[in-house]
Amino acid sequence: MKIVVLNGSPKGDVSVTMQYVHYIQKKFPQHELKIINVSQRIKKLARDEQAFQQVLDDVRSADGVLWASPVYFLLVPSQYKRFIELIAERGAESIFERKYTAALTTSIHFYDHTAHNYIHAVCDDLEMRYVGSFSADMRDLMGEKGRAGLLVFAAEFFAAIENQAPTSKSYRPAIWREFEYYPGAAEVKVDAGGKRILIVTDAEAHQTNLLRMIERFKASFAQEIPVVNLNDLDIKGGCLGCLHCGYDNHCAYEGQDDYVEFYNTQIKTADILIFAGVIRDRYLSSRWKMFFDRSFFNGHTPTLSGKQIGCIISGPLSQNQNLRQVLQGWLEIQPANIAGFVSDEYGDAAHIDGLLQDLARRLVRFAAADYVRPPTFLGVAGIKLFRDEIWGRLRMVFQADHRAYKRLGLYDFPQKDVRTRAINLVVPLLLRIPGFRKEFAKRMKSGMVRPYQKVIER
Ligand SMILES: Cc1cc2nc3c(=O)[nH]c(=O)nc-3n(C[C@H](O)[C@H](O)[C@H](O)COP(=O)(O)O)c2cc1C
Repeated sequence: MKIVVLNGSPKGDVSVTMQYVHYIQKKFPQHELKIINVSQRIKKLARDEQAFQQVLDDVRSADGVLWASPVYFLLVPSQYKRFIELIAERGAESIFERKYTAALTTSIHFYDHTAHNYIHAVCDDLEMRYVGSFSADMRDLMGEKGRAGLLVFAAEFFAAIENQAPTSKSYRPAIWREFEYYPGAAEVKVDAGGKRILIVTDAEAHQTNLLRMIERFKASFAQEIPVVNLNDLDIKGGCLGCLHCGYDNHCAYEGQDDYVEFYNTQIKTADILIFAGVIRDRYLSSRWKMFFDRSFFNGHTPTLSGKQIGCIISGPLSQNQNLRQVLQGWLEIQPANIAGFVSDEYGDAAHIDGLLQDLARRLVRFAAADYVRPPTFLGVAGIKLFRDEIWGRLRMVFQADHRAYKRLGLYDFPQKDVRTRAINLVVPLLLRIPGFRKEFAKRMKSGMVRPYQKVIER
């Protein structure tokens, strides 16, 4: 059988993910795994129709397609996202239709599930026959269990193709409504109260609903609100995954394009940020993805802590909970405060006007109160994962993170909590005494609430 492997790593063959593919190839020599470095070659594929056609020819003649990619910023790299956009842009969906497919990623398991949800949804949209996924930790291939699991995954994929196994879908096609938004005038003006507000968008001239939502949002303020369009910035390309930034936060692109300067001088200094974009396939645009990926020059160190964030999104947002989760997860680990999402998915123009006006009010109100909603599991778990990884195996490469984590007090390991450790030492010993255990159980409920009651009484 011939399997086309669409390689999502910008590092091409010198990538961790491709070592997993090479291992599969070695163990299944009867099948041909044809690797195409679509992310590494994205500029050529976008520019050169012939080169793109060559990829399509390979897919056409293949028995199956393996999406193999690193996880980048809770999704796939921007270059891979761009490749997926090109499929639709060039009307090539039918070539993928009914092809058996599976997804393989490597990562440190930080929001690998949202990356897989994304690929799966894209496959369902392309009417592919999705067999399954394998989310490997970067180092799994080094262990016997990891290798064995990988081979089961690969064998299942090959068997599904051979047996023409039945597959089911997990994602319904998103339904876009026909709606032209014509905003009304803003009668009340919100005073920004000296807060620095910045709207970041990738809006194109034909995306009139988004452009009008931005205008209506701006009109909600008494002050002029600046807008930066990502398409106007000179951004040479997506993150290359070279990790040069790990040592001292210097990006390999630095001085060659606008990105780092823009991020340092405009994003980091804003109190309130508005992210505005149009849903494209199952995310925003690849330009937006590039914005997030390139911020990796900051490593895992939070750069948006305490900021207020508003999201203005044109398109069927309620049908894309994965996108919401990606944004929420990323913002919660900062932690930044999501003041709200506004989309044009529901309601008439007056309703959307009201939502935008209220978003403006809330952003300023929350900024004045220094309010950041407590993170949910999405943020809490993410913060702990990064903490452990930076302290541990990632420290060697991400030394800038290590220094920052120490400085910012992010190494809040439970073993540093001396009081709890002392309690954990003494109380379990006492609990071996039946009388103490009985009394402990009797006072459990009241004992648990006593510290809270003290706070209330104070
Ligand atoms: C820009 C960038 C973003 C990343 N984002 C994530 C992430 O969101 N979640 C995660 O678990 N790992 C993330 N990683 C780690 C990579 O997924 C991991 O190192 C992967 O194995 C790299 O594969 P490759 O060598 O094939 O490119 C990121 C790495 C880079 C360079």
